[in-house]
Amino acid sequence: MASQLFAKKPLNVLLAEMEGQHRLRRVLGPVTLTSLGVGAIIGTGIFVLTGVAAHDKTGPALMLSFVVSGITCIFAALCYAEFASMVPVAGSAYTYAYATLGELFAWIIGWDLVLEYAVGSATVAHGWSHYFQDFISLLGLRLPEALTNAPFDFDPATGLLAATGKAIDLPAILIAAAITIVLVIGIKESARFNAGMVIVKLAVVFFVIVVGALYVNPQNWQPFAPYGLTGVSFFGQTLLGQTGRAGEPLGMLAGAAVIFFAYIGFDSVSTHAEEARNPRRDVPIGIITSLLLCTLLYISVAAVLTGMVPYDKINIDAPVSDAFRQVGLPWAQFLISLGALTGITSVLLVLMLSQPRVLLAMARDGLVPSGFFGAVHERFRTPWKSTILTGVFVGLMAAFIPLRILAELVNIGTLLAFLIVCTAVLIMRRTHPDAERPFRAPLVPLIPILGILSCLLLMFSLPAENWWRLIIWLLLGFVIYFAYGKRHSHFARETAAKAGANR
Ligand code: ALA
Repeated sequence: MASQLFAKKPLNVLLAEMEGQHRLRRVLGPVTLTSLGVGAIIGTGIFVLTGVAAHDKTGPALMLSFVVSGITCIFAALCYAEFASMVPVAGSAYTYAYATLGELFAWIIGWDLVLEYAVGSATVAHGWSHYFQDFISLLGLRLPEALTNAPFDFDPATGLLAATGKAIDLPAILIAAAITIVLVIGIKESARFNAGMVIVKLAVVFFVIVVGALYVNPQNWQPFAPYGLTGVSFFGQTLLGQTGRAGEPLGMLAGAAVIFFAYIGFDSVSTHAEEARNPRRDVPIGIITSLLLCTLLYISVAAVLTGMVPYDKINIDAPVSDAFRQVGLPWAQFLISLGALTGITSVLLVLMLSQPRVLLAMARDGLVPSGFFGAVHERFRTPWKSTILTGVFVGLMAAFIPLRILAELVNIGTLLAFLIVCTAVLIMRRTHPDAERPFRAPLVPLIPILGILSCLLLMFSLPAENWWRLIIWLLLGFVIYFAYGKRHSHFARETAAKAGANR
């Protein structure tokens, strides 16, 4: 049994599988891949979470939080890029883990990626709903109260769940349904739809930086780090820095762990490797270019935002558009809300595009039912059944579970995925030193080791309850693996059959 859990899928098997039938259409080039990366990155994180982070955890040191989170992601991105160039298949980190750490780890990471992509999409759908409501309110319209939010929320002051008096987040369900329809129709159409939205949101982000810079008052950058430059805890015990009312860590690093959400998505480029025309070259380009571009934009937005408004006056629901209202440019609010709404839509599109592709890779290996998750639509050539299931899951999670709980769960899950990918690069360099690597991460082992350490640092800078939620999620994953995946694994069956034949 232990041998199956740690059985690794050989690199040559993975490469041979890439040539097989039922593959997705190869239509994506380097610009489209980069635009998918930017599409997945800039959204709820920068437009919504910067407010809570600056106001409650960092002050103007938010700029440094973006630097720390960005560097963590760059370490991980270099590792992703190396793997994506070696094994350009749809499964991303799941496949990389199968090749290096074995089936059980592959399952863990595949299950963990559900947190990143599907639960991440639910978080983003919530953010979309809030901006949608903000936007229609500028037009003088309102939804019935009961349809505006999840029925309960987490109160960080008491550490307890509290009723919101609402029933359901209806706009979140509707946007999840609309995106699902676009995704079922096709990758090319989805990529085109995404490219248009990326242009709009980049224009709005540039507007924020350029026009906002004219309204910066450098005095607002003092004090620079009112909550300190650290903020690390270990299962509820603060190790470094200040502690908030509910026992959560405060400071620049604690802020970095929250706004890490803003960077999530660059890795989704690797899930489109199978649809790339020249994956070995273009997927690394897409991953690294989109991440570097967004890192520079984020640091600039953080500097402008905290320079425009004193940190304790930054709005926590719509911080960017509200900053323009506070400096006397209310018309800009309309523009920014529209940009945020567009930006968040494209994040949702790419994250919801990525989830079915990871499930497809898992289905091909038999770890989830292949009749369902492996089904590729005859005409559209998309994994349509799992796309629809993802849409239903995202809609339901977003409708009923509050944004704060979802966002932190996504962060810790994604940090774990990045940590495993960095580890996998180290292992692969030792086990397959001569394999073809069109893109090589520089300074190995230093870069992957720094990647692992920085992911751990951010994981420990999140409030402790996230660790428990992650552990429960992983335990649920183990139950599913032992009840289904382990018994149906194609690779384990084939290996056992070969061993039998050789006996
Ligand atoms: N990075 C994405 C966002 O901020 C998930 O919305």
